[in-house]
Amino acid sequence: METTCFLTGVSIILVYFAMNFLAIEATTNNINTDKSSLLALKAHITDDPRNLLGNNWTASTSVCNWVGITCDSQNKRVIVLNLTSMSLTGTIPPHIGNLSFLVHLSLRDNNFHGSPPTELVQLRRLEILNLGFNNFTGSIPSSLWQCRQLLRLFLGDNKFTGIISTNIGNLSLLRGLHLYDNSLEGQIPRSVFNCTSLQKLDLSGNRLTGSVPSEIGNLQDLNWLSLTGNRLTGLIPSTVFNISTLEVFGIARNRLSGPIPSTIGLGVNLKYVFLWINELNGTIPDSISNASQLTVLDLTSNSLSGPVPTTFGNLRNLEYLSLDSNQLTAESSTQELMNFISSLANCKFVRVLHLGNNPLSSTLPVSIGNLSTTLQEFWVGGCKLKGSIPQEVGNLRNLTTLDLRYNELTGSVPTAIGKMRMLQVLYLDGNQFQGSIPNEVCHLRNLGDLYLSGNKLSGPISACLGDITSLRVLYLDSNSFTSTIPASLWSLKDILKLNLSTNSLSGHLPPDIGNLKVVSEVDLSGNELSGDIPNGIGGLQSLIKFSIAHNRLEGPIPESFGNLISLEILDLSSNNLSGSIPKSIEKLRYLKGINVSFNRLEGEIPTGGSFSNLSAGSFLGNNKLCGAPRFQVPQCKTSSRRGSKSRSVSKPIIYILSAIASTILVLSLIFLLFRCQKKKSKPLDKENMQALSTWRRISYQELEHATNGFDESSLVGTGGFGSVYKGKLFDGTTVAVKVFNLQVERALRSFDDECEVMSKIRHRNLVKIISSCSNNVDFKALVLEYIANGSLEKWLYSHNYCFDILQRLNIMIDVASALEYLHHGYGTPIVHCDLKPNNILLGEDMVARVCDFGMAKLLGEEDSMAQTHTLATIGYMAPEYGSVGIVSARGDVYSFGILMMETFTRKKPTDNMFEEQLSLRCWIKDALPHSVTEVADVNLLGEENLYAKKDCILTILQVAVDCTVELPESRLDITDVLGALSNIKTKFQLLH
Ligand SMILES: *[C@@H]1O[C@H](CO)[C@@H](O)[C@H](O)[C@H]1NC(C)=O
Ligand SMILES: *[C@@H]1O[C@H](CO)[C@@H](O)[C@H](O)[C@H]1NC(C)=O
Repeated sequence: METTCFLTGVSIILVYFAMNFLAIEATTNNINTDKSSLLALKAHITDDPRNLLGNNWTASTSVCNWVGITCDSQNKRVIVLNLTSMSLTGTIPPHIGNLSFLVHLSLRDNNFHGSPPTELVQLRRLEILNLGFNNFTGSIPSSLWQCRQLLRLFLGDNKFTGIISTNIGNLSLLRGLHLYDNSLEGQIPRSVFNCTSLQKLDLSGNRLTGSVPSEIGNLQDLNWLSLTGNRLTGLIPSTVFNISTLEVFGIARNRLSGPIPSTIGLGVNLKYVFLWINELNGTIPDSISNASQLTVLDLTSNSLSGPVPTTFGNLRNLEYLSLDSNQLTAESSTQELMNFISSLANCKFVRVLHLGNNPLSSTLPVSIGNLSTTLQEFWVGGCKLKGSIPQEVGNLRNLTTLDLRYNELTGSVPTAIGKMRMLQVLYLDGNQFQGSIPNEVCHLRNLGDLYLSGNKLSGPISACLGDITSLRVLYLDSNSFTSTIPASLWSLKDILKLNLSTNSLSGHLPPDIGNLKVVSEVDLSGNELSGDIPNGIGGLQSLIKFSIAHNRLEGPIPESFGNLISLEILDLSSNNLSGSIPKSIEKLRYLKGINVSFNRLEGEIPTGGSFSNLSAGSFLGNNKLCGAPRFQVPQCKTSSRRGSKSRSVSKPIIYILSAIASTILVLSLIFLLFRCQKKKSKPLDKENMQALSTWRRISYQELEHATNGFDESSLVGTGGFGSVYKGKLFDGTTVAVKVFNLQVERALRSFDDECEVMSKIRHRNLVKIISSCSNNVDFKALVLEYIANGSLEKWLYSHNYCFDILQRLNIMIDVASALEYLHHGYGTPIVHCDLKPNNILLGEDMVARVCDFGMAKLLGEEDSMAQTHTLATIGYMAPEYGSVGIVSARGDVYSFGILMMETFTRKKPTDNMFEEQLSLRCWIKDALPHSVTEVADVNLLGEENLYAKKDCILTILQVAVDCTVELPESRLDITDVLGALSNIKTKFQLLH
């Protein structure tokens, strides 16, 4: 009995298990499991701003028709899950492990966060896993190392930490391993070299330490190896060059020492070698010339010594060679660069030759003229070069940069320079050139930077320099120029820096000096200039540094100095200036240093504003100045009228009055501060202008290389007009490359529009353009500054981080400053036409920059224009633009209003809750003023200082409502908006 019972019990249990098992089997073999797993994933997506999954991934439709899903044609199971670039925010739930037929999983370029679940291990068929460009944290899940079918593992550009597990060696089929730009530590595990199928291995941009194991030579299929930007030490393993398939080898920015292995010559397929910024020493092996495919070789900033090999000429494909900043010498026997340069003449594609900062101690050989005309950059600054520049240099007719600065060159500046018509940058400073500037220099109509400082040049400054309208930086200081400053120089209205100091120039300053509207530095010190300082000086709106010290100027300091709102340094010392120091200078908020010593000034030294940090040294040697004791001048005699008045008032009242006065002063200073800040950000971003002055010429090949052949792994976004890639230029600059999809109708126009607009503008809150590239046929790209921190869109809807009120307000002020500049700061008003959170990027400093000028319009005389195609974004587009295509600055104000609403409510204008009747604007307008907490982003409120916060958000939303009124004429102007936002910020900071 007992046995039967026991058996029955066992069988019941068995049956139970069997049924369960069958049930599991039944479901695992069912598309419904896939559906419920994917619905679980959808449930973990907390934000889907483009609503891509919302109405598409629904229980009532077939999984195989869902967006991003591909099913197997036979058994109808999900094999591909591809949610690339969908702006999704969320986490990956464990259910993903039930997609048991999945072969390809890509969540690339979204905002997924947290750790990927260990259940990934169940995806036995997985071949491609791409989680790149997200915000994943924690260590790389160990379960991944069990997915033995993996061919490609892409985890680049996340926030993974910890070490790389030795279990990585399990993935014996792996062909691509991309772990770059994370925070991985520890050593490179030797087991990775068991993955002998690897073709691409990219571990760059981490914190890896230790040396590179010599087992790396086991990877006999390796094509691409990048270990750049880690903390690796030790030697370059000589075995790496035994890999005959290797094309790209990057190990720059580490701490490697020892010599370059002579095995480098075995690298028969090597094309790109990056070894810059390490501590490599020894000589450059001659065998390098056997690596005959070498196209780019960058050895910058090491300690390499010995002669420059004379066999580089065997590298027939060489395009880019940088040996800058080493200890290389010219061939000792000939004392000339001759052989090296002659040999390089065989490199018919060479574009860049950087040899600067090496003790070459040689003359420039005539054979320089035999170098390929493809050469664009030739840098030999700081090389102890002697003798004169041979006229043959003029053969290099495509050169854009010639750097010969800080050598010992003599003779005159060769007239042949005028033949290099493409020249943008000419550095001849710090030599011993004599004679005058040849007029041929004025033929260089692309010249942006001309540096001739610190030579022995003499005679008058050539007036024709004023014809080079492309000139942005002109340095002629520390020479022996005489006569007057040619009037033509004052018509260079785009010049940014002008330095004529320490010469023997005479004559007067012209009244129209104020024409240089964008100039940021003017140094005329140490000359023999005389006469008055013209009042027109106040027109130099962008001036940051100004010196006319050590001249013979006389008369008063013009009151108009007070208009130079950007001024930081002012040096008027050692002249014969008289009169008093204008009080208007007090209000120059950015003034850090002022020097008026050794003049004949008199009267009271102002004490307010910018004078509060100044000391006695600024005012020395002016016998009649008076004022505060800290300036070490006598006290001023108070005028009798003021004296009697104050004596008649009793003391307490004086205290009260002065308290009130100082409060008013402080408040008005604060007000001023923001007014000035607003103005300050007008057109004076030095860097931006600099970039403009030297639009680097960048070839298609360089872009192709920078973006890994426009590979998916470099893609950071796609939009209406094409794709944006992240890439590194040869000089190490990280850039964003916007490639226009010329298939798309209008893309061509868009490129031209964007180029036209971008070439005209410069502002700290606008994304900076570095170059454009176009082959006039089928390729057009813009090379832009890469903004590290992504878009406002990404931050606003992030789960890891939340901006507080002040941060959001600062971003809005940045954007408004950019718009103010576009609408009013540049001669022709520019309308952006597509303002939205995706087009606002945040730099590392969290300063916002507006981007994407693909739809921007230059308005002419009229203040609006009609446009047939309206392609702006729904939700942000002004009604008159959407309906009849009217483009005007007021349309941007509308979009800005919507943007403000979204920023402070964290609700998109396209949110599901806004149907036909209710819009974002109405929803907010109805809630004001009493129910502001119902619409504000809850993350902004919290207990503390609730009043100040509510008040701030309320006033911001009121401005936003005023920006978005239906009638364009009734909307605020962006200048008023900016003023209002600055005031709101001041008030918030005072209350907070
Ligand atoms: C979901 O999106 C896919 C791809 O865009 C489309 O083919 C399909 O019709 C959509 N399904 C629904 C229900 O909208
Ligand atoms: C995944 O989607 C992206 C963007 O739509 C596309 O470029 C890529 O080719 C897709 N990959 C696969 C394997 O379908």
